[in-house]
Amino acid sequence: MWSPTGQACGTSNPAPMGATSRPPNRLCTVMSSMAEGRGAMAGSPSRTPPTLTDAQWYADWQSQAHSVHFDSRAGLDSRNLVRNYECLNDIRILSERILPSQPLNLLEVGCATGEFCRYLRIRYPHIAYCGLDISQTAIDRARQKYPQGRFFVSSPDLSLAESLKQWGVHPLPELVYSKDVVHHQTQPFEFLAEMLHCATDAVILRLRTRDVGPTELDPEKSCQYHYHGWMPYIVMNVDEVLSCIQREVPQGEIVLYRHYTVLGGRVNRFLPKDCYLPETKTAETALGVFLNTKQPGRVTVANRQEPEPRYTLDYRIRYFTTTLLRRS
Ligand SMILES: C[S@@+](CC[C@H](N)C(=O)[O-])C[C@H]1O[C@@H](n2cnc3c(N)ncnc32)[C@H](O)[C@@H]1O
Repeated sequence: MWSPTGQACGTSNPAPMGATSRPPNRLCTVMSSMAEGRGAMAGSPSRTPPTLTDAQWYADWQSQAHSVHFDSRAGLDSRNLVRNYECLNDIRILSERILPSQPLNLLEVGCATGEFCRYLRIRYPHIAYCGLDISQTAIDRARQKYPQGRFFVSSPDLSLAESLKQWGVHPLPELVYSKDVVHHQTQPFEFLAEMLHCATDAVILRLRTRDVGPTELDPEKSCQYHYHGWMPYIVMNVDEVLSCIQREVPQGEIVLYRHYTVLGGRVNRFLPKDCYLPETKTAETALGVFLNTKQPGRVTVANRQEPEPRYTLDYRIRYFTTTLLRRS
């Protein structure tokens, strides 16, 4: 299924370890992993219990505003949607590794209003897509726009395997994709581990990392104000991320591309002070983990700044005119 550097060919991973239960919020998974000495949290900083309950950290995704805010890509026509996605390093990893016409099941975790599904239909129509999200309002919008699509509502209390079972979806897709979801978890390492065990061939993600300083796992100290409430915004130490993956799937090949950007101080984020400093080297980070590979254990880490999308001229003129009209 993957290009010559990867060469996966559809054989299965063992049973989805760590993907069977999560009451309440992955505690069982973590404890069993730690007992075996390979837990995602082993060696990670200890976690202060948050003052909000777990359910409260996830409540604001149900806001109607979310399904509007995250639907901005719906305003892009096909050409510009492709240009938008293809500036991103995670999509670059996908395109570098995927073979053009091999059928494949892809699960998107945190699909919001379904625009990635539209992108796939344009560029990779051979991919069978299924999207999960905890936001009922976002899934309603996705279904409304794309009635043929497979979109399902999940819950942060359910493991991925349980959610898929509930909806009658095959529990082990070849590829799991998740963009900008991991850093919004109260337990991001466990969430990452769960996805690693839910794919047979590859996991491609976009998350937030820092090169310097440990992960602050307390969402009270690392969060974002969105839709009139707070949600976790956890910037993971890049070495802790790599160690977690190597512990969970030692046979995996890792590709990590960093787009450095100072994460602190933007878009209502309340982050540890050092995330406001360039020397902390915070990044929007794309990660590919390839489980069927000719290069098991190989780690490639590179810095790749992502360009701004170059939209078509007609789109730019339209955007400019609309903005002017709104201001007048
Ligand atoms: C920042 S948005 C990103 C949406 C989309 N992936 C994108 O990049 O445009 C995060 C999405 O993840 C969803 N989400 C958060 N935690 C989740 C979880 N544990 N399982 C599934 N979806 C989750 C939210 O409801 C929201 O739609």
